[in-house]
Amino acid sequence: MTAATDRGLPSAEELRALEELAIDVAAEAARFVVERRAAELQVTTKSSDVDIVTVMDSRSQELIAARLRAARPRDAFFGEEEAADGRTDQAPPGTTEPAGSGLTWVVDPIDGTVNYLYGFPQYAVSVALVQGDPTVPGEWRPVVGAVADAVAGRVHHARLRGGAWTRTVDGADEPVHVSDATDLATSLVGTGFGYDAAKRGRQARALAELIPHVRDIRRGGSAALDLCHVAAGRLDGYYEMGINPWDMAGGWIVLTEAGGTCTGAQGEPPSSDCVIAAAPGIAEALTRAVDSVVDLVRHP
Ligand code: IPD
Repeated sequence: MTAATDRGLPSAEELRALEELAIDVAAEAARFVVERRAAELQVTTKSSDVDIVTVMDSRSQELIAARLRAARPRDAFFGEEEAADGRTDQAPPGTTEPAGSGLTWVVDPIDGTVNYLYGFPQYAVSVALVQGDPTVPGEWRPVVGAVADAVAGRVHHARLRGGAWTRTVDGADEPVHVSDATDLATSLVGTGFGYDAAKRGRQARALAELIPHVRDIRRGGSAALDLCHVAAGRLDGYYEMGINPWDMAGGWIVLTEAGGTCTGAQGEPPSSDCVIAAAPGIAEALTRAVDSVVDLVRHP
């Protein structure tokens, strides 16, 4: 979206308050899913046998939606579990409710659901406020984001032009910056895989082409946290083909406010086709590398 879309944006003061709301709601939902995990770990499947949703995904989303609707009745709401009611792993275009305010809360109630199932400590609650239609690539951008790292008890957060921060368990805000990497060959790069078996095979073939050109690869299992890891310099870059608006919205603004870049492949905006996140010193090289393999994933 262009700078012209600053029209309709809440004031700096309002954005600050909205960022606090996002932090509070994400942190509350994160505590809720951690506390109830042992007692309420019931699972059903979505787009494939390995694409799961737990009862706690739904409960977490209900909690978040209730808090946000009470605080901001004129904003639209778009959560992973509502989109999943259509039994697809991709958000159909134009499926968000129209918003009186022109703003939409885009929510992943548990990002890293498979990690949650296994107790692997990489799952998050992502709450973002976006301008524009989050189901149409290039037509939206996040303006506030909070990604609660559920097990660590920290919340990565940002608002447009407000910098990127991590709120610690003690309530302190620590600044977040991307790494100063300049060489792709010595960069640590994250990625992820979708739930469709055939697509995972194509993603693995693309990865086989890329891995000789980087220091190493990490697969954390939560796209929202992967984006925040790039924001904080724990990864130099990340790419994935197939994540959804709710996976990317919160981490995207944390990343860009931390000095990173977030784009799609081949000059396109970030979308379910592809997201490339990078420290600025390797953005061009990582984009070139991903551009050269993206068609291996797009076409069966
Ligand atoms: C998944 C995670 C994972 C990514 C998948 C996503 P979910 O989200 O973000 O890291 O590789 O593509 O679908 O299903 O756990 O909310």
